Amino acid sequence: MKMVVLGAHGLLGRAVVAEARTRGLPVRGAARKEADVTDPGLLTAFLSEAAPHWVVNCAAYTDVDGAEADPGVREAFQVNGEGAGHAARAAGEVGARLLQVSTDYVFDGALRRPYRPHDDARPLNAYGRSKLEGEERVRESGVGHVVVRTSWLYGPGGRNFVDTIRHLAREREELRVVDDQRSRPTRAGSLARTLVDILMALEPEGGRAVGLGQGGKGAEAPILHASDGGEASWYELAREVVKVEGLECRVLPVPSHEMPRPAPRPGYSVLDLAETEALLGRRLSPWQDELRVHLAGAGEVGAIHDDESP
Ligand SMILES: NC(=O)c1ccc[n+]([C@@H]2O[C@H](COP(=O)([O-])OP(=O)(O)OC[C@H]3O[C@@H](n4cnc5c(N)ncnc54)[C@H](OP(=O)(O)O)[C@@H]3O)[C@@H](O)[C@H]2O)c1
Repeated sequence: MKMVVLGAHGLLGRAVVAEARTRGLPVRGAARKEADVTDPGLLTAFLSEAAPHWVVNCAAYTDVDGAEADPGVREAFQVNGEGAGHAARAAGEVGARLLQVSTDYVFDGALRRPYRPHDDARPLNAYGRSKLEGEERVRESGVGHVVVRTSWLYGPGGRNFVDTIRHLAREREELRVVDDQRSRPTRAGSLARTLVDILMALEPEGGRAVGLGQGGKGAEAPILHASDGGEASWYELAREVVKVEGLECRVLPVPSHEMPRPAPRPGYSVLDLAETEALLGRRLSPWQDELRVHLAGAGEVGAIHDDESP
């Protein structure tokens, strides 16, 4: 099973390339300059040459607050909406299938039980709307695909909440952290393992894919939810970081309205993992365990080279 990872220099893209290499699967990571999802010609040229069975689309505009106003909102829809459609069509043209990564922010947080894949998606912010548009464009492309939604990613390299808290808690005596938004924190390396497991489960013998939507208007979308297990608020996650690191910093819970941000966030966006756990035949590991892996520095992802491996 040969893979191409789009957005291979991002947090998740790097982890997926590393995971595939660890398992001895042939993989090519594509940086934005080699396979820009807003440039259909470039995408098709890259994919024709790489000839993958699967394209994993980790390319995205991920600045949630930046997406609330111009020029961010335009870029968000170009990359996350139209770009996902281009990736799907280019995958189809070269006979590949697409795994499209999406987000818990497609939900509005009104439910008080974990969101199932086919619960109504009603994004509260422009980033969520752009990602939902991407899901729809992938479905309408008619390519064999699966959408995998995830939440609250962190990992080595790049800006992320866990490393920001670790850094600030070393310098400050007190941190105020939002306590009225709940989801499932997810280590990028752990999600990468889950994504590759999903591809293997959908295509067990490296041959014909099973259980994949071919899309088309009106067809039920194949959607899975994947994250680490358990749930937390940002405050609880920050408190755990400080505890595991043995730091003295006090962490105080505050409501979102005391720390206003440009983009509204759902108060509750915990994803239901039952279908993914049934497909994989295993429980997804608790976020507290994965946080310890990250803080211990294990599972670090090294530099990504764009050559194919093994
Ligand atoms: N981070 C989270 O908490 C979170 C939560 C839920 C879902 N997700 C989803 O998970 C996926 C991966 O996110 P991430 O955290 O890994 O994001 P990330 O670290 O921001 O990486 C995104 C990557 O996409 C690349 N990119 C941007 N525009 C592109 C374009 N036009 N063509 C090709 N590549 C482009 C970026 O390239 P440059 O390096 O050149 O900028 C970057 O390497 C996304 O679909 C995101 O929506 C993330």
